[in-house]
This record gives sequence, structure tokens and C-alpha cells, in this order.
Amino acid sequence: MRVLHFAGLLSVLFFSINDAKSTAAISPTRKLSAEDLMRIRASTDAKQSTIVQWEGQVLSYKPGEQPKVTFNVLGMNIARAVKMADGTYDLLSREFQLYLDPVTDKVINVWQNPYSGKKVPVVHVANNPVYQSFPPGQQYVAKSRPGRLYTLQLSIPLSYPNSLNPTGDLNSPFFPYSGTQKLAAIESFTFTFPASEISGKSKSLPSTQVYWTRTSALLPWMATPNTNTTLLFIGNGAKVAGGWKNLNPVLRDVVKKILPAYKEAPLARTSPGGGVSSWSYFAQPEVFQAYLNGSIFPLRDDKK
Ligand SMILES: *[C@@H]1O[C@H](CO)[C@@H](O)[C@H](O)[C@H]1NC(C)=O
Ligand SMILES: *[C@@H]1O[C@H](CO)[C@@H](O)[C@H](O)[C@H]1NC(C)=O
Repeated sequence: MRVLHFAGLLSVLFFSINDAKSTAAISPTRKLSAEDLMRIRASTDAKQSTIVQWEGQVLSYKPGEQPKVTFNVLGMNIARAVKMADGTYDLLSREFQLYLDPVTDKVINVWQNPYSGKKVPVVHVANNPVYQSFPPGQQYVAKSRPGRLYTLQLSIPLSYPNSLNPTGDLNSPFFPYSGTQKLAAIESFTFTFPASEISGKSKSLPSTQVYWTRTSALLPWMATPNTNTTLLFIGNGAKVAGGWKNLNPVLRDVVKKILPAYKEAPLARTSPGGGVSSWSYFAQPEVFQAYLNGSIFPLRDDKK
């Protein structure tokens, strides 16, 4: 009897604590500052490099065509948030993404382009550096989700002159790779994170998850611009605690052997603007030369 009674009391205590935890309502929306966004995306401790790793798919399609999976992808970004004198957060990062065979999931270095019938070297993404700025006045609104989570979606429609051939010159050496079109793209990031973590004091939320969608024109290395083909990238990822050694082994080996620069995020800006894109990377003379002679990418990068 006494034992039963005691067990009954324990279970009452247990359930009431549990109930308090799981049913206390979280507010349906939550306003976030640029500082909160940096805690979600990276860390407000400028001494810390924060890694986000993702995996996903790339589909391609022409108008009216059924999209097909062209690649799987596996990538990482390593970022540092630095607060400027005016309160702006400058997110300084490096990122690379590998294109994988959609069936075998192995890294591919040569791709049979269905739009030209030709084999081309695969130029894996290796953008160092990538910069983003978050001004202090900007507010973001996250929405509550079941499970005491919040979610925040940021969509960025982009349209800008093609950096490989901004004047649309038919005689440019890059004409066969970039055509003459303006670049238009949509990039969307959805962050999900626990209410308890955003309400806490930590400079970095450990449990951030991120969902990424991007549309773009075909990439320069595919060498079939102006074919009205769209690429659709769909990925999902999360922070990786404990540094680059905890990356997926395929990514970790690339960092170790080919991209040691990606062990740490940049310490400071070296140029204004957004840094390197897949288009400006391709235009670098040593990259373009390496592409023409059939080198394997990514090229070694140990600059800091
Ligand atoms: C792309 O679409 C435009 C507009 O519909 C069309 O005029 C052009 O012929 C198309 N190009 C190709 C290569 O399909
Ligand atoms: C290809 O080009 C790269 C970059 O210029 C160079 O480092 C490499 O030695 C070249 N390889 C061949 C086989 O020509």
C-alpha cells in the first residue's frame, strides 16, 4: 500500500512537471532582431566560427517539362558574425557544395550535359568569401509551430547583371558559358528553432535547422546558357557542433585535403559587397584555365 501510494504521488508530480513544460503556450509570433537572427544563423560571439551543413537535390526543367533530379548536393558554410560600430552584423563566411550523382550519391567530376550532349568538368561550389549584411533596425517575425518551435522564412528575389558578361558581348570569352541573359534567382531560407533556446541567453542556438530553396539559371560550367532551363535547389541542414572534424566524412575529407581555408570563418572583410558567387568564381583566370584544361574541382584553397 505504502509503496503504491508513493508511486502514485511520484507519477502525479512527474505528470504535473511534464504538463507545465509541454502545454505552457508560446506566443504565436515572436519578433526577432538582427542580433536574434545571428544567434539563430551563427553566433553573436565574434570569436566563434559556426558551421551549417546541408544535403539536398538539384532538379532541372524547361517550361512545361517535368523536372528531373540532376544531382544530389552536400555542402557546408562556416560563418562568423561581426558587429560593426553602427550595429550592423556582417556575416563573413566561406562555403562549398559538392554535386553528387543522384543515383550512386558519389561526388562527380564530369557531367554529361543533356542539353548539349557534351561532357563537361563539374565545378563544385567553393565560394570564399561570402558576405551578408544585416542592418540593426530590421525586424523579423517568427511563427510558432507545434512542439514549442518557431519558424522564420526569409525569401530573397534576385536580379542582377550577369557578372561573367555584364554587357552581353557576343565576343566575350564567357559568352558560351553565361550567354547574355541577366541573372534572376530566388533564394529562400526557413529556420526552425526551439522557443526555449531563443528565450535563453546563449550567443548561439545549438538546435537551428535550416531549409533552403533556390532557383537559378544553368551554371556557367554547364556551358548551355540561354536554353530556358531552370535549376531548382532544395536542401535541408543544421548546425554542426565542435568544428570541421564533425562534418559528414565526405565534406571533412575535402576540408582536410583540399580546402583547409574552410576550417575557420574569415576574421574580417577583404572587400565590399557579397563576395564570391558561382559566376564570379568561374571568371577567376586560374579557375577558367583549370576548367578549360579539365582539372578536378574544387581547386586547392588554403588562403585565410
Ligand atoms: C526560350 O524562350 C523564349 C521565350 O519563350 C523563346 O523565344 C526562345 O526561343 C527559347 N529558347 C530556347 C533555346 O528554347
Ligand atoms: C590547368 O590549369 C591550372 C590553372 O591554371 C594549372 O594549375 C594546371 O597545372 C593546368 N593543368 C594542365 C594539365 O594543364
